[in-house]
Amino acid sequence: MTKSEESKLKTKTKEILKRRILRNNAIGGYISLTVGPPGCGKTSHLLYEAQLFMDTYPNEIVFFRDSTMSAAQFNRIGKNYKVFVEEGCKIRFRDLQHGGSINIPYQSFSCLDELISQDTGKGLVKKQFLNVVFFKDDYRWIDLLCHLRNTIGWQSVFVDEIEDIIPLNPSKREGENKNTRNEKNIQFSNESKQIRKGLVNMCCNTQAEDEIDWRFKRKLNFTVYLRGARVSRKSRIYQAWVDKLEIGKCIIDYEYRMYGKSNFRSYPPKNPIFEVIID
Ligand SMILES: Nc1ncnc2c1ncn2[C@@H]1O[C@H](COP(=O)(O)OP(=O)(O)OP(=O)(O)O)[C@@H](O)[C@H]1O
Ligand SMILES: [Mg+2]
Repeated sequence: MTKSEESKLKTKTKEILKRRILRNNAIGGYISLTVGPPGCGKTSHLLYEAQLFMDTYPNEIVFFRDSTMSAAQFNRIGKNYKVFVEEGCKIRFRDLQHGGSINIPYQSFSCLDELISQDTGKGLVKKQFLNVVFFKDDYRWIDLLCHLRNTIGWQSVFVDEIEDIIPLNPSKREGENKNTRNEKNIQFSNESKQIRKGLVNMCCNTQAEDEIDWRFKRKLNFTVYLRGARVSRKSRIYQAWVDKLEIGKCIIDYEYRMYGKSNFRSYPPKNPIFEVIID
């Protein structure tokens, strides 16, 4: 990247970062996708933003989706998290150091209204905590997002590895007589504008953009590129810039018309002590 390119990026960075953090009730929230290959800092970036939102807006509710394929990630942010498990979801926290199970305190809930009530905005979830939710089925996240659009006040939802929720080619599950997951993908894309207008912010990440539903990609407001990410053909960002990024730095694209370079703090996975298994 030349000096003049670097300075152009810096000029827009301020404006982009302002747009990411400022609240505007008339515009609503935004949808952001962070992209990058394994180990480039996607989860760190997500946790960094979640912490930033908790610090900036202590009266807002923050939800977090942890990937059950990897050792638990949410404890990387510290101790300020709460775990909620949907009734009927068979969950185990496997002790990675000693084997067997580890006891992680959690609260069960039977319906979304119990987590956060549409009438009053009250419920089990807590302000100033990362509210980590586990569902029986990943596509219940789409139900949660649709539910949130009718609740009171601003909320932010952080989703690690969104390809599990809206995969490009969802396959029919055992016992389903039609492809419910495909219908959920369509529902989510159709409703994402209303979700944003309902004062819901959504930040998520994936290893590769082409693993997720194409309809959803059209709804993105921000794409955050980490080192080695494949840049979208629509973007004006050069692939070479992204390839040369250091860990802890990112290039943020705002609706393919403005971009800037930024930094994020590391939330290292210090000896993960447990992993989550949903049977
Ligand atoms: N801002 C940063 N500064 C320095 N190191 C960082 C930063 N962010 C992440 N790292 C380091 O990069 C490594 C991978 O981070 P992280 O787990 O967030 O990546 P990831 O993309 O989510 O990985 P995976 O694809 O395996 O889920 C960690 O060891 C972490 O400490
Ligand atoms: Mg990760």
